Amino acid sequence: MRHASPTPAAHAEEDDFLVSVREGLRRHPKSIPPKYFYDAHGSRLFDLICTTPEYYPTRTETGILERHGAEMAEMIGKSCVLIELGSGSAVKTPLLLRHLNDDAVYVPIDICEPHLLHSTQRLQTMFPALQMQPLCADYHRLPTRVLKQHAKRRRVVFFPGSTIGNCTPADAVELLRHAAEVTGPSGALLIGVDCKKSPEILNAAYNDAAGHTAAFNLNLLTRMQRELGAQLDADGFAHHAFYNEGQGRIEMHLVSRSRQAVRLGKETFAFDAGETIHTENSYKYTAQEFRQLARAAGWQPETVWSDGDGWFNVHYLSAHPAMKSHLSVLPARRGRYSPVPS
Ligand code: TRP
Repeated sequence: MRHASPTPAAHAEEDDFLVSVREGLRRHPKSIPPKYFYDAHGSRLFDLICTTPEYYPTRTETGILERHGAEMAEMIGKSCVLIELGSGSAVKTPLLLRHLNDDAVYVPIDICEPHLLHSTQRLQTMFPALQMQPLCADYHRLPTRVLKQHAKRRRVVFFPGSTIGNCTPADAVELLRHAAEVTGPSGALLIGVDCKKSPEILNAAYNDAAGHTAAFNLNLLTRMQRELGAQLDADGFAHHAFYNEGQGRIEMHLVSRSRQAVRLGKETFAFDAGETIHTENSYKYTAQEFRQLARAAGWQPETVWSDGDGWFNVHYLSAHPAMKSHLSVLPARRGRYSPVPS
């Protein structure tokens, strides 16, 4: 059995939580970058969110991968280097890996090392022949040298979970350009994107009744207390998430319940009652909108798979127009697309 256990995670540069929080709280309106949600506790809470009845994206995308994984593997190339951005628990990944050849290489990238190592270990047990190279990094700044190994194989970026929606459209173009750099001109992108839909469904998804999303959002404050020694009253803040239809995005905030102060080192940050820290956006895209965005980043849209309700899309794009495959994209009912008429 080759590669029975994965190589230890390589490390990209350290992030500065303190600097990011300080700068974010100095801003008007206040904000903190979402990547700091994902410490060990936050990553566990995120897994719980994915199991709630209200949070439809995980199970919807899973259904699409279950149904079309074999076809996706054909398109991306069964002996590829599969680079997963923000792999987390990598629960959906087996739905692709099971269709790849034994000589494929899997490179999971995540900011949370315990999560990364644990999930890589689990996948390595499931797929003992596959070579796995976990990388602990912020995928916005990938060390290209690490990814330029396996030069002869097609490099494919796998980015499920609609995580691209957590960037602004401008930052999304930037990130997709970075992905194109990572894959090179013969590469591909397989990416999950949550769709625009009724505000009721969207609002429920980010306000689950069990309170896991609220706990996930509030964990940012307890993490600030734990790791930065911030002096604050975590109970003095509330989770607030809502669909901003004009912007086509869910916004997540921590709302101050009263007039209060947060101390960080020598600095004091004043909050009015109702003032918020903007902690995350989750942009929703129609298939057409996303394809337009991806084109702006140099990608050639190829195929889009959807669920029966048109709630979620998985897009396959190629990096090089000359690579345009024989597989055409055919419009189907209700704006859905499928690779072949069925
Ligand atoms: N990217 C996914 C989304 O926007 C998952 C996610 C990120 C999420 N942060 C979240 C889900 C916070 C719920 C709450 O839906």
